[in-house]
Amino acid sequence: MTDLCAISDLDEGSSLGFLSHRGPVFAVKYDNEIYVYQNECPHLGVNLEFMEDEFLDADGTLIQCSTHGALFAIDTGLCLAGPCQGDQLTSIAFSIVAGRIVLT
Ligand code: FES
Repeated sequence: MTDLCAISDLDEGSSLGFLSHRGPVFAVKYDNEIYVYQNECPHLGVNLEFMEDEFLDADGTLIQCSTHGALFAIDTGLCLAGPCQGDQLTSIAFSIVAGRIVLT
């Protein structure tokens, strides 16, 4: 089990990266929903972010891989454009425990 952070640490329209017992993961809050994915691009298996905690495109509406620019839907992890179009980020199940995001 890994305690990632408090819900309040994750601002609307932002992302945070973590090392967890399931390897590197990141969380995004978008439209008041929280999503957690494995930090691994389906194209080459590399980490996605271009700077620490920066997983979103310039508009903040899609997840973007910094290596070749693949774009992923925030709510499904589906790659919409780029070299791995049609592939999907690996969604990570989590629980909210006492206001904190916890991976089990
Ligand atoms: S490694 Fe992510 S798009 Fe190529």
